[in-house]
Amino acid sequence: MTEPLLRELSRPGRPTLAIGRPDVPATALDIPEALLRDNLPLPEVGELEVVRHFTRLSQLNFSIDTTFYPLGSCTMKYNPKVNDAMAALPGMRNIHPLQPEASVQGALQLIHELQDLLAKITGFDGVSLTPAAGAHGELAGMLMIRAAHEANGDGERRRRVIIPDSAHGTNPATAAMAGYQVSSVRSDARGNVDLAALRKLLDDDVAGLMITVPSTLGLFDEAMLEVSQLIHEAGGLVYGDGANLNALLGIVRPRELGLDLMHSNLHKTFTTPHGGGGPGASAICATEALVPFLPLPVAARRFDGSFYLDEDRPQSIGRLGSFQGHFGMLVRAYTYIRMVGADGLHEVSEAAVLNANYLRQRLSEAFNVAYDRACMHEVVLSGLRGNQVRTIDVAKRLLDYGVHPPTIYFPLVVPEALMIEPTETETKATLDAFVDAMLAIAEEAERDPELARSAPHTTPIGRLDETAAARNPVLHW
Ligand SMILES: Cc1ncc(COP(=O)(O)O)c(C=O)c1O
Repeated sequence: MTEPLLRELSRPGRPTLAIGRPDVPATALDIPEALLRDNLPLPEVGELEVVRHFTRLSQLNFSIDTTFYPLGSCTMKYNPKVNDAMAALPGMRNIHPLQPEASVQGALQLIHELQDLLAKITGFDGVSLTPAAGAHGELAGMLMIRAAHEANGDGERRRRVIIPDSAHGTNPATAAMAGYQVSSVRSDARGNVDLAALRKLLDDDVAGLMITVPSTLGLFDEAMLEVSQLIHEAGGLVYGDGANLNALLGIVRPRELGLDLMHSNLHKTFTTPHGGGGPGASAICATEALVPFLPLPVAARRFDGSFYLDEDRPQSIGRLGSFQGHFGMLVRAYTYIRMVGADGLHEVSEAAVLNANYLRQRLSEAFNVAYDRACMHEVVLSGLRGNQVRTIDVAKRLLDYGVHPPTIYFPLVVPEALMIEPTETETKATLDAFVDAMLAIAEEAERDPELARSAPHTTPIGRLDETAAARNPVLHW
């Protein structure tokens, strides 16, 4: 919460929230005049009309349950329904964080076991499951790095975090939020961190490096061990953005790449729902030296076998939220990991990488591939060959073929980028149908480029001015 907001909320005499109380005039709630509704007549309709209205709206939704959703950097894989069934069990759903500890031993055991499972998968020594999403995990990590340098008496001096130019936007934003200056290090022609450029940035003011593993270029950095070593030699710590862990399960333990801490997006890799801004869930994982700084609470086990939330951790960066993260998401992630098992996790990543490389190979027929080497969980293309139509046009035309477009114009370092992440949960038939659509668009672009330039043609709304829609949204009807 920002300081001005905190000040406002604690201002003496500030009216308490009383929305919906007819005895309290709306103006007493400090709601700005412009946001107050006029006497808006509510529609008078029967139940059937209401059902039809909402059913129709639900059918306009694009979702992984209805359609292929190859949104790069988002790992839109299928979320097995058994996860939801487990999270909906009365013992999971009808509990409250303020209940006596003895009455929620099962929930605490689940959190504890999930911490252990994620520690095994990632190779780290300790895990806290309180971050509410990936970027929240990043913030925890940056605050831990700061706390660790402060504990060494080095906090004042180490003010800078180095971040590769391919990074997800949350990385520099988070480092800045944690009070760090950000230095961007460029990628080389193979998509690796440019080691010569990195060396030039190293000095004794460097607090650490924040690096996505594998990178948002869909690549495994071939010099990752050397990168970590250079940062350590400069006295910095290496933070791994593990949002792309779906490429590494059971194949590489990220800690062995020289990372000191890392977050994992449970809502991507471990099939808890993703999208619409939440609820997400993230794990922040640390090596032994950094475990004392993990955010509170961490689930722990007493000698008598009982479980509790350990808050007695004097070096911790403190709490990130009121209670213990998004428990329902933790139940889903736990269910998935236990269901798939160690061998299954290995197969998940192998299939995710295989699927991405299959698309890379087939799409290279008509599209420029940004980096001519094996990719990991996603492939980044650099526009359609021939340039008759731009990436935005390809994406819009895909909607007419019933496919959610891939991520476009990201990573920023790739011109006309199309970032495609098929995940392991799609069949070869689905991948082939997607490639067929992409190649058909390429063929159309030669013959009749206007078709793509004016797409989509089959959706309820045609092409939007997306900048205007984002900046001046129309939020009423
Ligand atoms: C590489 C990378 N880092 C960080 C994030 C941020 O995660 P979240 O959206 O859960 O905050 C994402 C989001 O998908 C990502 O792809």
